[in-house]
Amino acid sequence: MFSVTNDGNKNFKNLVNGKWVSSESNNFIDINSPIDNSLVGRVPAMTKDEVDFIIKGAKEAQKEWGKITLNERAEILYKAADLFVEYSEEIAEIMIREIAKDRKSSISEVVRTADFIRFTADTAKNMSGESIPGDTFPGYKRNKISVVNRVPLGVVLAISPFNYPVNLAASKIAPAIIAGNSVVLKPATQGSLCGIYLARIFEAAGVPKGVINTITGRGSEIGDYITTHKGIDFINFTGSSAVGERISKITTMVPLLMELGGKDAAIILKDADLELAASNIIAGAYSYSGQRCTAVKRVLVEEEIADALVEKLKEKVAKLKVVNPLEEQGDVVPLINTKSADFVCELMEDAKEKGAELLFGGKREGNVIYPTLFDKVTEDMRLAWEEPFGPVLPIMRVKDRDEAIRISNESEYGLQGAVFTENIDNAFYVADKLEVGTVQINNKTERGPDHFPFLGVKSSGIGTQGIRYSIEAMTRLKGTVINLR
Ligand code: NAP
Ligand code: G3H
Repeated sequence: MFSVTNDGNKNFKNLVNGKWVSSESNNFIDINSPIDNSLVGRVPAMTKDEVDFIIKGAKEAQKEWGKITLNERAEILYKAADLFVEYSEEIAEIMIREIAKDRKSSISEVVRTADFIRFTADTAKNMSGESIPGDTFPGYKRNKISVVNRVPLGVVLAISPFNYPVNLAASKIAPAIIAGNSVVLKPATQGSLCGIYLARIFEAAGVPKGVINTITGRGSEIGDYITTHKGIDFINFTGSSAVGERISKITTMVPLLMELGGKDAAIILKDADLELAASNIIAGAYSYSGQRCTAVKRVLVEEEIADALVEKLKEKVAKLKVVNPLEEQGDVVPLINTKSADFVCELMEDAKEKGAELLFGGKREGNVIYPTLFDKVTEDMRLAWEEPFGPVLPIMRVKDRDEAIRISNESEYGLQGAVFTENIDNAFYVADKLEVGTVQINNKTERGPDHFPFLGVKSSGIGTQGIRYSIEAMTRLKGTVINLR
């Protein structure tokens, strides 16, 4: 399968208007593994002229794609889903090397993607328009009826992050194409080999030429040009709040769907099941080394039960396995790059200097940050507010549920929150007041299942993802009014 995109020299190509091409610039970006810095592949740095050509081709292709039946589009998606499952081990192998995700999570990301794609086709087949009688509005007669349908937007620009290079690309592409749009995928540079493989799967499933295209190249160099390109009709971005805010500033009259950073709090009330809370906190904070937007990024615990919770967390964090994901299965893996590991260390140093109590970890070897737990983190520390995107968890002790709500809401982010309590009234009291997209009661913060709405408020995003919501976002309503004589 992969030979089509790779000339044998680890130089990968882009899918452009149905052909696998390199860049005329002949500039390549090395993709080195975060595990051992070995070269995994090289991707072309596409030029502005090439971007123009790709978007023009996508625009042309969309005209035909938008005309074919939804059934035919769905059949192609079902085939793609089957191929993702068939090639899950092969894709996982690349993912492990490219982004250092552990094998189990890499395979499960690919299988989840197949499920997502199938569900997208099923959902689209069950969506329908409506007809609205005119006479329900004062002054109108029965002769006027609006027939309202959903139509595609045109060319969707999908920009994906490094941490889910398959799933967070496919969860933009599948809803876009089932709705009749064409797609230009700009994958995260570290993650672009997975992105290219993914495009190959869709191509092999029968997506016609020009309907899915890839553009590799550094976002810092080519990003502004692509996002402000006149040929783009919709931008679906997942990544940091900083880049998201930049895109929202420089674009004009293009609808945006953006899922950005987070600082999700797990709020533990004094009547919580502490065993349940501790297990969820550990899984939520440390899986994939905390490099998930929805990771539990701080614990806000009522003072009376803080010591008991801390004991349980210490016991569980000590059991986490730090591994080289190429060699064995484990929980904590090297961070994506040295800059990220440096940043996490900065936050840890700041917390230590300001008096936080280091309960576990605090050690670094290369890009590996050992699972780290801090207690007695206070509001003057950066770790209380900033997103480490690493395996470091701060515990903040609070006097009551209102203080937990206040600290949670003072964050610039508003992705998710979790509340652990055995009392439904307390659960709803907190859930009602948290300024976030979703509140989890007695569970870690997390995106799935993928047909639920997934959204962030404040600096955590614009618009709503989730299968049906994404399809709605990537279509617009079109009314045709029948005027009977
Ligand atoms: P990032 O640095 O913002 O990169 C995300 C994507 O944007 C990459 O494809 C990147 O390309 C591209 N990009 C960079 N500069 C750009 C520009 N000026 N214009 C257009 N695109 C540009 O984020 P990341 O490091 O991959 O991911 C980590 C962040 O994403 C965290 O903050 C995390 O919370 C957030 N995240 C949020 C969600 C969510 O659903 N809320 C999900 C996953 C991640 P290059 O790689 O070439 O720079
Ligand atoms: O990193 C951001 C993802 O949207 C998180 O997804 O909660 O399934 O890990 P997840």
